[in-house]
Amino acid sequence: MVTDSKLFSPIKIRGVTIPNRIVLSPLCMYSANNGMASDWQFAHLSTFARGKTGLIFAEATAVEARGRITPGCLGIWTDEQADALKPITSFIERMGCVPGFQLAHAGRKAGTKTPWNGGLPLDDEDTKAGNPPWEIIAPSDVPVAEGWVVPRAMDNNDINDIVNAFANAAVRAIKAGFKVIEIHSAHGYLLHSFLSPLANKRNDEYGGDIYGRMKLLLQVVDAVREAIPEDIPLFCRISAVDGLENGWEIDDSVILARKLEEHGVDVVDCSAGGISGAPLFRVNNSGKPMKTNMDRGPGFQVPYADKVKNEAGIKTMAVGVIVDPNQAEEILQSDKADLIAVGRELMYNPFWALHAAQALNADPEFAMWPEQYKWGVNRRGKLAEFKGIRDEVIDEKKLDSHLSEIHKQK
Ligand SMILES: Cc1cc2nc3c(=O)[nH]c(=O)nc-3n(C[C@H](O)[C@H](O)[C@H](O)COP(=O)(O)O)c2cc1C
Repeated sequence: MVTDSKLFSPIKIRGVTIPNRIVLSPLCMYSANNGMASDWQFAHLSTFARGKTGLIFAEATAVEARGRITPGCLGIWTDEQADALKPITSFIERMGCVPGFQLAHAGRKAGTKTPWNGGLPLDDEDTKAGNPPWEIIAPSDVPVAEGWVVPRAMDNNDINDIVNAFANAAVRAIKAGFKVIEIHSAHGYLLHSFLSPLANKRNDEYGGDIYGRMKLLLQVVDAVREAIPEDIPLFCRISAVDGLENGWEIDDSVILARKLEEHGVDVVDCSAGGISGAPLFRVNNSGKPMKTNMDRGPGFQVPYADKVKNEAGIKTMAVGVIVDPNQAEEILQSDKADLIAVGRELMYNPFWALHAAQALNADPEFAMWPEQYKWGVNRRGKLAEFKGIRDEVIDEKKLDSHLSEIHKQK
């Protein structure tokens, strides 16, 4: 292993060592049965473990039934749901990777169709199909956008229930074998909607200025920190900016990050957007992209991770269109972040980490590969040294000579 690659250097946070800096960003799969993981979750997450992604986050998992985005979202409000996740954590660890868990509550963005069915609130059609809508709770009775359900503003009992639900879910996640816990406070879901002045119109202690709006998240952080062992790292995903006028701004995120650190958060995962309009990554009914002023080019959220890291003095995870190994390496080398989360590019190429190690010459001997693949892939690597083997196979003579070389090697 070539050692000067930061992307392929381990990082120890509390008692957990992550073997490289590549993280599978949480990805909702909408494929659970009553909140229980299905074989899809095993197949999905185990693939990234075979691909040696250092830290593998399971998708946003609802801490209570009302907190699911769609009826098919994963949940962890029962012990059975937690048990169904055990084969996944055990496989990920067997591959030498670290299983991570994202605790979530969708708040006013709960109770919707899957993105591939439009992502809008559940309706009569869904009720007929056995998936009726459910009660939606939020800081205030402000809907996500026109045409969305008007949520019920939470009272103090609801707030206590939510804090307890996060803590109980964290205990279950640890029992299920997860070694890193992340609190989801981004993308317009419940905890983010308390932070953002666009969604939080309360005039009690949980609203008003930034300190009031941060109160619920910090209570959840305290409860989760208390519920999990001391040596387990705690991450918090934030939307570093709302990307809308009069919304949450990057300077608010720096203030929040300092508080999160004081309350025992180890890493701030810097995403952005989602407070209003359609879910991320879809177009709204009018066919226009969701309402935001953000440019979504390569590494567009990296400046947020950089600013939070360097101004609040806390570790950060960068995410958002990080697709190239050199791009990822540069982010780490220039101290803009400590970890690199990859979402869509890993779905496109689940072995991205192994391929990145080749590209950065960090694994010339294929030592990172699972042993079941290593011996064969190593040989393939040698064969690939016949220049342009793929391009040249149309030339029959060259193909013959390649094949006779292969036979000689055997
Ligand atoms: C299919 C899909 C599902 C997602 N599910 C989640 C999720 O469960 N939790 C979350 O915090 N973000 C979720 N996101 C956002 C991703 O984690 C990630 O932040 C985003 O895709 C940007 O990174 P990328 O450009 O590498 O894909 C999802 C994104 C996609 C495309």
